[in-house]
Amino acid sequence: MQDKKISLVTGASSGLGRDIAKLLCAKEHIVYVTARRKELLEELKKECSEEKGEIRIISGDLTDSKVRINLISQILKQAGKIDYLINNAGYGKLINLENVEYKDIEGMFQLNAVAGEHLVAPACCKRKL
Ligand SMILES: NC(=O)c1ccc[n+]([C@@H]2O[C@H](COP(=O)([O-])OP(=O)(O)OC[C@H]3O[C@@H](n4cnc5c(N)ncnc54)[C@H](OP(=O)(O)O)[C@@H]3O)[C@@H](O)[C@H]2O)c1
Repeated sequence: MQDKKISLVTGASSGLGRDIAKLLCAKEHIVYVTARRKELLEELKKECSEEKGEIRIISGDLTDSKVRINLISQILKQAGKIDYLINNAGYGKLINLENVEYKDIEGMFQLNAVAGEHLVAPACCKRKL
C-alpha cells in the first residue's frame, strides 16, 4: 500500500483538470491523469517532473464503460486505493436542438452523468466493477 495520497483526475489534458492535477502533484500526491489526448498528458507529466509527487498516465475515452473499468482496475492494482477522485471530464455542445446528433446526446450523457457514478463507487469502496 502506498504512503502517498493517490488521486485520479479525469479530463486532465486541459483546463481545470490540468490545473488540479498540477496542484495535487505539487502536494506530493501520486496523480493518475486521464483524457483522450495522451500527448497533452505527456506534456503535463513533463511539466511536473520536478514536483514532489508523480503523474501517472492512463489515457482513454471515458464514454466507453470498458475504458472506465480498465482505468479503475489498473489504479487499484498498482496503488491499492484511490484517496481522491476529481471527476472533472465533461463536455457540452451549445448548439440548437435540431442540430444535435445522437452520438453527442449519448456521449454527453455517458461522460457527464454515467461516468461519474460508474467510477466513484469502485474508486471509493473497491466494489466490484
Ligand atoms: N468552462 C466552462 O465554462 C464550464 C461550464 C460548465 C461546466 N464545465 C465543466 O467543467 C469541467 C472543466 O471545464 P474546463 O473548461 O476545464 O473543460 P475543458 O478544458 O474542455 O476540459 C475538459 C476535459 O475533459 C476531457 N474529456 C472530454 N471528453 C472526454 C472523453 N470522452 N473521455 C475522456 N476525457 C474527456 C478533455 O480531454 P480530451 O479532449 O483530451 O479527452 C479535457 O481534458 C468540464 O467537465 C466542463 O464540462 C465547464
